[in-house]
Amino acid sequence: MTNHDLEKIVETSDDWITTRTGIKERRIAAENEWTSHMAANAAEKAMKMAGVTAAEIDLIIIATITPDMPFPATACLVQEKIGAKHAAAFDIEAACSGFIFGLEVGQQFIMSRTYNTVLVIGAEKLSSIVDWKDRNTCVLFGDGAGAAVLQNRENSHGLLTAVMGADGEKGDLLVMPAGGSRCPATRASVDARLHYLRMDGKQAFKSAVQAMESAAREAMARCELDITKIKCIIPHQANRRIIDAVAERLGAKPEQLFVNLEKYGNTSAASVAIALDEAVSSGRLSRGDLILLVVFGAGLTWGAAVIEW
Ligand SMILES: CC(C)(COP(=O)(O)OP(=O)(O)OC[C@H]1O[C@@H](n2cnc3c(N)ncnc32)[C@H](O)[C@@H]1OP(=O)(O)O)[C@@H](O)C(=O)NCCC(=O)NCCS
Repeated sequence: MTNHDLEKIVETSDDWITTRTGIKERRIAAENEWTSHMAANAAEKAMKMAGVTAAEIDLIIIATITPDMPFPATACLVQEKIGAKHAAAFDIEAACSGFIFGLEVGQQFIMSRTYNTVLVIGAEKLSSIVDWKDRNTCVLFGDGAGAAVLQNRENSHGLLTAVMGADGEKGDLLVMPAGGSRCPATRASVDARLHYLRMDGKQAFKSAVQAMESAAREAMARCELDITKIKCIIPHQANRRIIDAVAERLGAKPEQLFVNLEKYGNTSAASVAIALDEAVSSGRLSRGDLILLVVFGAGLTWGAAVIEW
């Protein structure tokens, strides 16, 4: 769906969306394509790249705020779809920060020697919770999925550290008010459009820049790295202006940044997973390169991870 397509739905313009966000297009899943479908597709590709079979998967973690249903967990639906018969499976909900949270949780299971092979997926069908009458939000989001296989292999590194943070006091900045125990679905909740996401964009912007900068600094400090040692910075793909502000504060050079939001918009938990895959497949990364992932989302939540590729 292009910005021009959106001009036909709400009062907006390609120029407004491009200058305020950098987004030109977003992907919209078909009506009969759910988060679990996109997650399973991404999982199959990741397993193929890693040379891992479904039988080897011990644990499936899906980060999502748009599960197929409130329960069962979308991870269980994906377990069935990919045939990972002996895998444990659960979802985590950390909004746009979910993929880094998932990587860290998966890594902990491997470090504790509980599991050998963990599949971490970020997947979202945000088009199903976006209010297509609200131009403040509907232009920003898109659908998609990305996945990674974590395994303890000889002579490999992977995730060196992950910083995670949260501030529940600012939970109201980005929220879907209804559909949970506080406000179950009623005719009134539907009429009041409470089943769509709502956002205070300006405040979210400010909080994002601060939280992403400090999380990135903490992750690099833990690894005794400065920004010049990072080959590729993969930030959460929400808004080009947020990315540029964070990069400037960190003293990063434009060529260190990986940005693909012009094609996808904000895909929440899928965002950095998709970008990581595109950075790899476009030849931006070689073995041994250091990558900095940095994310921010509803909760509020934030995180940063240093990966040795
Ligand atoms: C949403 C966001 C793009 C708005 O940009 P902004 O620079 O704060 O917007 P501005 O204050 O300059 O403009 C707001 C005006 O544009 C209007 N506007 C909002 N969306 C619009 C759209 N799609 N098209 C045209 N006009 C729009 C508003 O109604 C408002 O008009 P008003 O001033 O007459 O009331 C920006 O705040 C943002 O990206 N925030 C972070 C959001 C985010 O990424 N959240 C997720 C984090 S995981």
